[in-house]
Amino acid sequence: MNVMVLILAAGKGTRMKSEKPKVLFEAAGKPMIDYAVEAAEDAGIKDINVVIGSGAELVQEHLGDKVNYFEQVNQKGTGDAVMSAVKKIENFNGKVLILCGDMPLISSDTLNRFMELTTAPVAFISAKVKDPKGYGRVIRGIDESVIKIVEEKDATEDEKRVNEINTGIYLCDSAELVNRLKNINNDNAQGEYYLTDIVATGTEAFLAPDDKEFLGVNNRAHLAEAAGQIWRKRAEEHLMNGVSVLAPDNFYCDDDVLIEEDVTIYPNVFLETGTIIRKGAVIYPGCRIKKSEIGANCEIKDNCLIQESFVGKDSQIGPMAQLRPGSVLKGENKLGNFVETKKIEMGLGSKASHLTYLGDAEIGKDVNIGCGTITCNYDGINKYKTIIGDGVFVGSDVQLVAPVEIGKGALIAAGSTITKEIPADALGITRAEQRNIEGWVSKWKKKKGK
Ligand code: UD1
Ligand code: CA
Repeated sequence: MNVMVLILAAGKGTRMKSEKPKVLFEAAGKPMIDYAVEAAEDAGIKDINVVIGSGAELVQEHLGDKVNYFEQVNQKGTGDAVMSAVKKIENFNGKVLILCGDMPLISSDTLNRFMELTTAPVAFISAKVKDPKGYGRVIRGIDESVIKIVEEKDATEDEKRVNEINTGIYLCDSAELVNRLKNINNDNAQGEYYLTDIVATGTEAFLAPDDKEFLGVNNRAHLAEAAGQIWRKRAEEHLMNGVSVLAPDNFYCDDDVLIEEDVTIYPNVFLETGTIIRKGAVIYPGCRIKKSEIGANCEIKDNCLIQESFVGKDSQIGPMAQLRPGSVLKGENKLGNFVETKKIEMGLGSKASHLTYLGDAEIGKDVNIGCGTITCNYDGINKYKTIIGDGVFVGSDVQLVAPVEIGKGALIAAGSTITKEIPADALGITRAEQRNIEGWVSKWKKKKGK
């Protein structure tokens, strides 16, 4: 079957109350329009066309050149939206599948069954819903010659009568679609051309087994509902793959995230695009991880933010650590509470257990970074590098003023501000010598009359 898809995505989305075009709102980490494009692609359709209007440039910028665009200058309804591609449809000989850009739950399986089971020149997907508000209604039984129902499963006569809707998904012979579009008008209160009006004699309604996939997102409550379902479905897939998702309704995972077996994920974790979690890792509550790899058996403790970073196996991060882009930990590392890293490489077994900033640094293996250490990498104009050799011990409250290099096995005394190179095996210390003045406090208090 020669099929092109036309995705309607020009509408204003007034009820979203936003400058952003509705179809670019994310449902579970992905703009809604992507779900329609991917469902069509997964159904094997190569010729993908999108009707754009409101926020046209933004939609175009997002989808790029993998689809064709048709601009609907004024949004005069779904029928008018299809009309904006009429030249292409006229020159096309085959089936036109029409989808809405605001239906993120639609699956390629359903589209495939719809395309297999219908034969009429115009067909649409119907479903039974409790509340038909906002959907086009199917009036059936009135004129069987107008709509022939293709059942996906046997429904009782009673079931069939209640609230059948037109989901807005159509499959039409290109020539017949052009004919029917010519016959619709905007003679209604809204002055819109309704695509529902192409339903006339010689139409099939494909009755889907349930209404799950046809939620059309008109406002943010619908969006939250759709996103919740997508997230829940992903949680179930990971559960089946051997991942302990402790609270499947509070698990926010993008669709391209890879999680290996025996991983445990506590509630309220966000795993965002490009993330990989290796075997046996545990991710505690409140973490957000984006474009990062977490090695086998790592523990990411509560409330960490990790982006564009690599955490080698058997490491412990957090609680409350931030790994900014370019943090590469080789493995068996420990970053404790209130540690921030950016563009660093840290060798095997090195640690920074508390209250530390490490930026633009190369740190060897088995290095201990004491509490309160700061790499002073920025002079207000340029950024500079700190290099710390294997086995270095950095005492607490040390400032490393970059560019600076610390040789292997060196030891830096607590409270030192290091501005010059420290050779291997040396002690680096910058401190005023301590003096104690005996009896000073009581004399001072007496002077103050206390
Ligand atoms: C539409 C359908 C309804 C269907 C419902 C499913 C019509 C008349 N109504 O109603 O049968 O049950 O969707 O959610 O067809 N769009 C344009 N240009 C326009 C108007 C809309 O491209 O001028 C696009 C929107 O961007 C959106 C889709 O068409 O992706 C549906 O538009 P919307 O305004 O949400 O239609 P509904 O009133 O929900
Ligand atoms: Ca809608």
